[in-house]
Amino acid sequence: MKLPRPHAESPYMEFSKLHSGAKWNLATSAVTAYPLRNLDFDWGQLEINGPSAYGYRPLLEAIALMKGVTPEHVVHTTGTSMANHLAFAALLAPGDEVLLEEPAYELMLSTLLFLGAKVRRFRRREEDNFALDPEEIRRNLTPQTKLIALANMHNPSSSLASNETLRVIGEMAQDIGARVLVDEVYLEALHHPPQPSAIHLGPHFIVTSSLTKAYGLGGLRCGWILAEPKLAERLWRMNDLYGSTPVHVGEQLSVAALTQIDKLATRADAILDANRAALAEILGSHPAIELAIPAVGTCVFPRLRNGDAHTFLQFLRANYETSIVPGHFFERPRHFRIGLGGDVAMTREALTRLAEALTAWKG
Ligand SMILES: Cc1ncc(COP(=O)(O)O)c(C=O)c1O
Repeated sequence: MKLPRPHAESPYMEFSKLHSGAKWNLATSAVTAYPLRNLDFDWGQLEINGPSAYGYRPLLEAIALMKGVTPEHVVHTTGTSMANHLAFAALLAPGDEVLLEEPAYELMLSTLLFLGAKVRRFRRREEDNFALDPEEIRRNLTPQTKLIALANMHNPSSSLASNETLRVIGEMAQDIGARVLVDEVYLEALHHPPQPSAIHLGPHFIVTSSLTKAYGLGGLRCGWILAEPKLAERLWRMNDLYGSTPVHVGEQLSVAALTQIDKLATRADAILDANRAALAEILGSHPAIELAIPAVGTCVFPRLRNGDAHTFLQFLRANYETSIVPGHFFERPRHFRIGLGGDVAMTREALTRLAEALTAWKG
């Protein structure tokens, strides 16, 4: 049967849902689950239905407060995935040109292709630890570019761009009447101190994010778009095509989480710091890989000196019950992604097994 549209699927998401699990799991990019029992909440107040037409006001206010914007800048979405989908759909007509980073989170690419965008790429260079280079963007912009799309921090490398770098990119976009979409889902993991959202760089910036990665709150699916109010209103109207209102129970729990976010951030930092230290200790100088350990973020992206990571994953799974994400999902088949957000004891054992596997691996 012929599919009505090309690319209406995500190979990475299928891998993530069906094939990434393992007893010793380094394949997730999120901080491990926050237990519901630890969330301070007046359970007697929980309601199934509530006033959520174009956003549940307490939730919009809580997100706005955290990000230093007005509630009129906030569009609540089902995770960053839906935030990206809505934003791309609102900003691009089929055939419009978008300049997307490479490597990129696979869903950004598949969503853009699904929407019929003409996708051009700019490189984040491995030699620079995948840093954003405004000159590389400048070289690849055309007068037709409508949108520059990137993630900060970057998935898979956790490379962090400063707002000064993003401001320069914003100026290039403005010169040709384009916008910049910054996916900040991993920036949420930069807690102490946080980096201000790129939304403050001007109305030509659109930001997408969620609570899913940095706090162990994936199941709440609390995501958002930050955009200038006129665009935000357009996004709310477009969101009507995808459903009526969000699950109100989720909205209430998201408000509760946001009001005690410092507690969740402190827990997340302790997990990430411990796992980053274990990574440095166990794999920091392993001869089978090239590894740069970023100071922040939930993921690292080493490169195998021999062989490809897809085959290595099969070896790792079969012999060590351990998983990582092979780099072909990020257009770098010799790299693989290690997640640092897992339970600390599990992650240490998984890293130890990964080190053993790398020692035994012949490519
Ligand atoms: C850059 C990026 N954006 C969005 C997402 C999806 O986020 P969410 O789970 O909030 O939908 C991911 C998940 O891995 C991601 O890496």
